[in-house]
Amino acid sequence: MSSHHHLVIITGANRGFGASVAHSYVANSGADTVSFVLVGRNQQGLDSVLTSLRKLTSENNVAVKGAIVGDVDLADMERLDNNLVRIQAAVTELRNESIQSKNVISKSVLINNAGSIGDLSKTAKEMTWQETRAYLDFNVVSFVGLTSAFLKDTLGAYPKEQYPGHKTAIVSISSLLAVQPFSNWSLYAAGKAARDRFLGVIALEEKANNVKTLNYAPGPLNNDMQADVRRTLGDKEQLEIYDGMHKSGSLVNMDDSSRKLVLLLKNDEYTTGGHIDFYDE
Ligand SMILES: NC(=O)c1ccc[n+]([C@@H]2O[C@H](COP(=O)([O-])OP(=O)(O)OC[C@H]3O[C@@H](n4cnc5c(N)ncnc54)[C@H](OP(=O)(O)O)[C@@H]3O)[C@@H](O)[C@H]2O)c1
Repeated sequence: MSSHHHLVIITGANRGFGASVAHSYVANSGADTVSFVLVGRNQQGLDSVLTSLRKLTSENNVAVKGAIVGDVDLADMERLDNNLVRIQAAVTELRNESIQSKNVISKSVLINNAGSIGDLSKTAKEMTWQETRAYLDFNVVSFVGLTSAFLKDTLGAYPKEQYPGHKTAIVSISSLLAVQPFSNWSLYAAGKAARDRFLGVIALEEKANNVKTLNYAPGPLNNDMQADVRRTLGDKEQLEIYDGMHKSGSLVNMDDSSRKLVLLLKNDEYTTGGHIDFYDE
């Protein structure tokens, strides 16, 4: 029986940092088998990420299994319950498969990666409560819904008495904005801070249940979201800094940052409930 079979759920796994985390997980987690549940809106993108993950199998000596849960719009509150059920069904199927193949899952990981920047052209006084509500629905409420459902389901599937070695990790892809305010980022900063605290509380509540949580700030990444920031940010001073970083090639490479996250999870030495930045140490 393998002792390193990880179940890994990633939201927004079709592109950007989510796709990069999935690839780094195969290469750097130390797992012999990874069962992915890739969640997102774009079915085709998720399919092609899963195909490329499967291609990493022989090179890294890791078995890759996976399920896609596509057409999941985490901003759509009407469909959130239904989507949570669909995600849970995919998890249950992979778990059952792991029992049948006697390769029981030893670690369950949720990576809350999907996110949006909101309207960075506005300062706080220009925000409406309606756009605030829509922003927080996606970036905080659906995050809480998925995290709580995952936690309850996982602890139910692997009771400590029966599975003393099973570990659970919950990650929020966070930001420097969670711990430091900058102009024009009011909703983004508030959302990331709320997520950080939520996982901080879970860390305390579930300490005795082999559950750890981590808020990981990936650094300013060289990707689509940063391009959106450069296009829309209303604050000139910051814009110059981001433009400069882009031009000088000093934005963070996604794979470097996702590798750091996966190694943190692998080495398991981080303080549960804490906030770690790509630039730390
Ligand atoms: N980029 C940076 O510099 C940076 C810095 C610090 C933190 N972060 C954080 O890193 C995480 C990943 O961002 P990224 O840089 O990879 O951004 P990105 O390139 O804009 O990708 C965002 C991801 O979230 C998904 N998503 C957006 N709206 C969604 C919705 N309503 N329902 C479900 N999925 C949705 C996107 O899917 P679609 O393809 O369907 O749009 C995509 O997979 C975010 O939490 C972000 O806040 C990024």
